[in-house]
Amino acid sequence: MKTSQRDRDTFIKEIFASVAEDIDFLSSFFSFGLDQGWRRRLVSLLKLKGGERVLDVCTGTGKLAFLLSRKVGEKGSVLGVDFSREMLAEAARKLNGRPSNIGFEFSDAKDLDFPENSFDAVTVSFGMRNIPDTAAALHEAHKVLKPGGRFCCLELTPPTNRWIKPAYTEYCFKVMPFIAMKILKTAVPYNYLPRSIEAFPSSDEFARTLESCGFRDVSVHSMTFGIATIFVARKG
Ligand SMILES: C[S@@+](CC[C@H](N)C(=O)[O-])C[C@H]1O[C@@H](n2cnc3c(N)ncnc32)[C@H](O)[C@@H]1O
Repeated sequence: MKTSQRDRDTFIKEIFASVAEDIDFLSSFFSFGLDQGWRRRLVSLLKLKGGERVLDVCTGTGKLAFLLSRKVGEKGSVLGVDFSREMLAEAARKLNGRPSNIGFEFSDAKDLDFPENSFDAVTVSFGMRNIPDTAAALHEAHKVLKPGGRFCCLELTPPTNRWIKPAYTEYCFKVMPFIAMKILKTAVPYNYLPRSIEAFPSSDEFARTLESCGFRDVSVHSMTFGIATIFVARKG
C-alpha cells in the first residue's frame, strides 16, 4: 500500500475513533433525524427477501445493518464490516451478546476478505466518500456479490436545489463544526465532513464508475433537495 493511502487511512481511522461513542447521536442531531429515513429508503430499494445474505460495508456502529437484519429474517444474515475497531466496538455493544442474524467483523472496503460470489446484496451507507479510491471499493463489492446480486450505496451529496445551497453551506461549514467542537472538544471530524461531501464524485460520475466496475442497471435516487443520494446497481 502506498504511503499516501496509508496516511489517509490512518487519518480516517483517527476521525472515527474520536467520534465512535457520539456518532449515532450526532448523525441524527445534525440531520434532524433524516439519516434514519434515508437508510430506510435504501432498505426498501434493496427489496430484500427472507433468507438472503447481506454484506454491509463501512458498517460503523451498525445502524444500517440492524435495519437490514429485520428484512432478511432468521434464515438470512447480515455481516457488517469496518476498519475502525472503535466503531465496531459500538456496533457489538448494541448486540449485547444476544444471538442474532447479524455479525460484525474487521475488514477494509478496499480489500474484502470474502470468497467471490458469496453475498446476495452489498450495502454502504455514508462510507463511500471516505474512500478516495472509489473504484477499488466498488471492484471489491462486485467481486463478493453473487451474479445478479444488488449493490446499494447511500451517500451525502451537495444539494441540487440552488435555493438551499447557501444555507446548506453555512450549516455544514460553520454551524456543524462549531457545535461539534462544543460536544467533542475537537472540530476535526466535522471540518472533514463537508469537505468529503464536496470531494465525492458527482452522481453521474459515480454512476459511470459503477458501470466501469461491471455493475448494470444503475439507478440514482436523489432525496431531500439532493443532500442525500442512493445508488442502486446489479452485478451483471
Ligand atoms: C459515517 S460512518 C457510517 C456508518 C454507518 N454505515 C451508518 O450508516 O451510520 C463511516 C464508516 O466508514 C468506515 N470506513 C471508512 N473507510 C473505510 C474502509 N476503507 N474500510 C472499511 N471501513 C471504512 C469508518 O470507519 C466509519 O465507521
